[in-house]
Amino acid sequence: MATVLVASNRGPVSYALGEGGSLDARRGGGGLVSGLSAIGTQDSLWVCAALGEGDREAVRRGVAEPGVRMLDIDPSVYADAYNGIANSVLWFLHHHLYDIPREPVFDAEFRRRWESYRAYNRAFAEALAAEAAEGAAVLVQDYHLALVPGQLRALRPDLRIAHFTHTPWASPQYLRMLPTDIREELLRGMLGADRLGFHTRAWASAFEEGAGDLGRTLVAAHPLGVDGEELRALAHRPEVDERLAELRAEVGDRRTIVRVDRTELSKNILRGLLAYREFLTAHPEWRERVVHLASAYPSRQDLESYRAYTASVRELADEINAEFGTADWQPVLVSVKDDFTRSLAAYRLADVALVNPVRDGMNLVAKEIPVVSEAGCALVLSREAGAHEELHEDALTVNPFDVTETAEALHAALTMPPPERTDRTKRLAATATSRPPRRWFLDQLEALRG
Ligand code: G6P
Repeated sequence: MATVLVASNRGPVSYALGEGGSLDARRGGGGLVSGLSAIGTQDSLWVCAALGEGDREAVRRGVAEPGVRMLDIDPSVYADAYNGIANSVLWFLHHHLYDIPREPVFDAEFRRRWESYRAYNRAFAEALAAEAAEGAAVLVQDYHLALVPGQLRALRPDLRIAHFTHTPWASPQYLRMLPTDIREELLRGMLGADRLGFHTRAWASAFEEGAGDLGRTLVAAHPLGVDGEELRALAHRPEVDERLAELRAEVGDRRTIVRVDRTELSKNILRGLLAYREFLTAHPEWRERVVHLASAYPSRQDLESYRAYTASVRELADEINAEFGTADWQPVLVSVKDDFTRSLAAYRLADVALVNPVRDGMNLVAKEIPVVSEAGCALVLSREAGAHEELHEDALTVNPFDVTETAEALHAALTMPPPERTDRTKRLAATATSRPPRRWFLDQLEALRG
């Protein structure tokens, strides 16, 4: 029986089915991994969903990492819960992404999917109830599992339960779009926890406002930071050195504007490219002297809107290259693949970091680039990113919808005097690393245990 349990949709390991039926494990990093490793696998358990065929096969064969339990949920229930509710409804509400004249539509089909979402949450609650020692601490993660605290509380009143939201929290006006009974079920599900955590005060307050009279649970802000030492070590591995040399050969002695995102609707990659285009138009002296390095990891490609968005990113980058490119200058280099090595190499090369989401729970890229960039970088940062709450003093703040303002911020960033840039980068890196993941995790655990 475990005394500390974590539950999240995506776990710390995933399996790929190799040729000849071999199972190759791929381990992820991140805050929860290093936090839980502080406790040890004897006493801790991470409950997550089997995401693909490889994971399902691992469950069937009884293959598991120590301290990890994967749940093999019926694929159609899983698809309705993950794609149909978590990523199409809850993610869109919390990030204010709806195209309001058409969306959202809460009909019978939505209610059918909601039942799957409830069942998927219940599978987690039941597994946690079965695995937790008397009085254990359970840390439930994110919008996929909003109903788990209430369901688990009913099964095991003895447990200490926390829920942490990694996204923003919808404004009360957005939250009110949900059918009343569903909104109450969602809120009551979360309020089953002893403590609720968010990355910023702003998201915590939005939750409290939206919950109104229902809310009695303790709500707190626990901003996640980065582990500076670990990140620098990762960024200086030989394979990153190699990629850096390749990128340097492409970029030459030009300045760089770097962005790294999932191909995610909330990341505002298109307006970022429009701003770069406007910058090259308004400040032609920078043509041939700057390169925009954009990494966009494919994400949630089961959803048509994400596929279309990814295609639009490629198209706009091609248009900019066609409009401004010359025989030996390609203005934008876009990489649409999951390539963290290339991203780290780009971080090292960054003169300017562009982080302009329309809304974001935290955004760790804004914290990572200043830690890794070699020459120090100016950070152009959306006021709507959670990270802005901590970094605003040393960033160049932009309204993510204002393309002209963003274009001018890129110009200001590129022309910032070097001593000022160095000072700001140092302060950004210090703030970014002040609450590394392990501390973030242990702080919450301590608070939960009281
Ligand atoms: C956000 C969410 C995470 C999620 C990640 C990647 O950061 O808060 O819970 O894991 O996006 O999305 P994915 O759908 O690929 O897990």
